[in-house]
Amino acid sequence: MPQQNAIYPDLAGRSVFITGGGSGIGAALTAAFTAQGSKVAFVDIARDASEALVRQIAGQKPRHVPLFLDCDIRDIAALRAAIDQARAAHGDITVLLNNAANDQRHRTEDVTPEFWDDRIAINQRPMFFAAQAILPQMQRAGGGSIVNFGSVSWKLRQGGMAAYTMAKASVQGLTRSLARDYGKQNIRVNTLVPGWVMTERQLTHWVTPEAEKEIDAGQALAGRVMPEHIADMALFLGSAASAMCSAQEFVVDGGWT
Ligand SMILES: NC(=O)c1ccc[n+]([C@@H]2O[C@H](COP(=O)([O-])OP(=O)(O)OC[C@H]3O[C@@H](n4cnc5c(N)ncnc54)[C@H](O)[C@@H]3O)[C@@H](O)[C@H]2O)c1
Repeated sequence: MPQQNAIYPDLAGRSVFITGGGSGIGAALTAAFTAQGSKVAFVDIARDASEALVRQIAGQKPRHVPLFLDCDIRDIAALRAAIDQARAAHGDITVLLNNAANDQRHRTEDVTPEFWDDRIAINQRPMFFAAQAILPQMQRAGGGSIVNFGSVSWKLRQGGMAAYTMAKASVQGLTRSLARDYGKQNIRVNTLVPGWVMTERQLTHWVTPEAEKEIDAGQALAGRVMPEHIADMALFLGSAASAMCSAQEFVVDGGWT
């Protein structure tokens, strides 16, 4: 297994559910939790990438091979069914990583009500319904950790994708509300805010030479934020190492915001 920077013994054997765990940051999350000995189930629509990831990780002979569930999280009934399947396979889920999103750019003048609803159906609605379905499992298990993925984009006043930035700005509202409602039951809820992370998709679509200059000027730190840096923070938030952290935003952006 790849060497992690830190080992969190309490993550071994834990039932972990990840949305969008088949590629990008999600793939790093799947690999990192699996390397801790967690039982990972993830949903994704990218079937080929997800199956390739499972094959690659299985080749490393982990304690538990991740379970890929082909599911479009815009379909809440399908999302609930996938969560049921994950619980049946791995037991009560005690770490939920609400990671899946789609950052497709859009001009304000082109947005139709249908497109708007679709962006919300990907970038906002499933976070709530995944949490709603998994909270009873966490209650039964005596606690858990929910990590909702935000974004620095709206903090940096990035234009060209208002439906995405609105959804991402709303994440902390959901986090704080659920953190208040379930905190006394030892369920922690936090927002993980990635900076500009060098995933395959970002490198292919958006990271131009001009963008590289923007990153260098914006970040306090040299270098690039990689998916593994985000996974390191997710491991910390999932584990008991962050036992008294809830309702907060944890930013991994190289010191940009
Ligand atoms: N990469 C960045 O620079 C960056 C910056 C800020 C925030 N984020 C946030 O981090 C998280 C992960 O981002 P990423 O860059 O890895 O994204 P990505 O687009 O590379 O990967 C998202 C994953 O979710 C899956 N997915 C998309 N729509 C889905 C659907 N309807 N049903 C099921 N699965 C679906 C995709 O197939 C993919 O595997 C997102 O919440 C994103 O908003 C990323």
